[in-house]
Amino acid sequence: MSSRNVFAGLTVDGVSKTFRNAKKSVHVLRDVSLKVEAGSIACIVGKSGCGKSTLLRVIAGLETDYDGTVTLSGSVLRGPGRDRGVVFQEPRLLPWLSVEGNIAFALQGLTPFEKRRRVLRYLKKVGLTKSARSYPHQLSGGMAQRVAIARGLVNQPKVLLLDEPFGALDALTRIQMQQETLRLWEALRPTMVMVTHDIDEAIFLGDQVIVMSAGPKTIRKKLSVTLPRPRDRNSPEFAALRREILAEFFVDA
Ligand SMILES: Nc1ncnc2c1ncn2[C@@H]1O[C@H](COP(=O)(O)OP(=O)(O)O)[C@@H](O)[C@H]1O
Ligand SMILES: [Mg+2]
Repeated sequence: MSSRNVFAGLTVDGVSKTFRNAKKSVHVLRDVSLKVEAGSIACIVGKSGCGKSTLLRVIAGLETDYDGTVTLSGSVLRGPGRDRGVVFQEPRLLPWLSVEGNIAFALQGLTPFEKRRRVLRYLKKVGLTKSARSYPHQLSGGMAQRVAIARGLVNQPKVLLLDEPFGALDALTRIQMQQETLRLWEALRPTMVMVTHDIDEAIFLGDQVIVMSAGPKTIRKKLSVTLPRPRDRNSPEFAALRREILAEFFVDA
């Protein structure tokens, strides 16, 4: 295959994952396939327990024992790498390091001078320049999650993976974080995969919304969202998509 034909984005092809222990096997993913164009946003929605986090961990390389393949720019991925940044639901900051220290801790392969410059650049991008020397316990939930996003981006990954990053935030902070995430994406254009159980968040952000089903733990539906950004949550088109996705949720209720 000529290099021109290599898909530049991220693919998940026929991924199945089973957790086994002494007593039983749990099939957590069954034959999951998806394709995310380079520089686009895919949002994965589904009920609790349907395998969303497992799928994200497979893409992140945090799970390595599975069937199927994950590729980025045509190369098969196994194991974690700097090409993918991850943001979890909890900020997972080290309490004994400052904000700046937490981000620098994740940063690999630079001189101390370059490191500091890079960290400050990403702190600025998430609007936390003034909090560089604060410690995690001094931050609000939204601020802590911004630190986590800066940490996820600081190695300048091609792909940013987010697992319900705003799930623990209050509704207004969540909307603000969605708007900021959109601005960051527009500025940096990483390929993004975000897991969420917030349907509006998925429609607000995603170029595609992937609905996972809880019965057989696989993909039930993929919708592309072509509404221009920033999207109006009150528009009839937004409401129609919301209704369509919500209907999928209750098929196996
Ligand atoms: N390490 C594990 N061992 C066994 N079962 C697991 C493990 N991790 C997740 N599971 C099971 O896999 C299913 C999917 O989990 P998860 O991917 O966390 O779902 P979601 O993120 O959609 O809520 C759940 O039934 C969960 O109990
Ligand atoms: Mg989860």
